[in-house]
Amino acid sequence: MIVSLIAAVGKNGELGFEGKIPWHIPEDFKHFKQTTLGHHLVMGRKTFESIGKPLPGRKTIVLTRGRKKMDGVDSVDAASKALELCAQRGESEVFIAGGAEIYNLFMPHAQRLYISYVDFEGQADAVFPDINLDRWKEVSSEVHQPKEKSPGWCLKVFELA
Ligand SMILES: NC(=O)c1ccc[n+]([C@@H]2O[C@H](COP(=O)([O-])OP(=O)(O)OC[C@H]3O[C@@H](n4cnc5c(N)ncnc54)[C@H](OP(=O)(O)O)[C@@H]3O)[C@@H](O)[C@H]2O)c1
Repeated sequence: MIVSLIAAVGKNGELGFEGKIPWHIPEDFKHFKQTTLGHHLVMGRKTFESIGKPLPGRKTIVLTRGRKKMDGVDSVDAASKALELCAQRGESEVFIAGGAEIYNLFMPHAQRLYISYVDFEGQADAVFPDINLDRWKEVSSEVHQPKEKSPGWCLKVFELA
């Protein structure tokens, strides 16, 4: 099973501010949907609450140390339990979908990164961890021009070097 991190980050690693993603890029949402459809998503409790519901066509696993019941998802209290559950269900590629705490937690377990680099600089209270380029090699890069009110972005995929 491949463990992949999927994220959209600003120029300084910005992921979010006050529980929200600070840009709106419909094309990037489309890429997220196409890439993750039919697979498991693993996310932190705060990211799940910011989305508000499980995303259709995917199985969601939420990391939480609490015991609050969340409808339509599996909740686990450790990264290893999330990965075990996916492996037991025969998952081929699990997508770690944030936020900052959860990316940090799974970075050492990851074999692939899908990073949308957004042409954005601004306030953030959630930041993506550093990508160590001694450890990762870029395998593809796709530039997307700004469109209407959405900033430009570049999708890069990294695999272990
Ligand atoms: N740009 C992007 O691609 C992207 C993607 C996703 C999210 N975001 C943004 O990122 C921000 C949220 O990130 P965040 O770092 O604040 O929160 P988060 O990673 O979404 O969730 C943190 C929560 O996960 C649980 N958790 C963390 N480590 C755990 C562990 N080892 N075991 C069990 N549970 C654990 C805890 O939940 P409990 O408190 O319930 O115990 C913790 O409060 C938001 O602004 C969101 O919009 C951006």
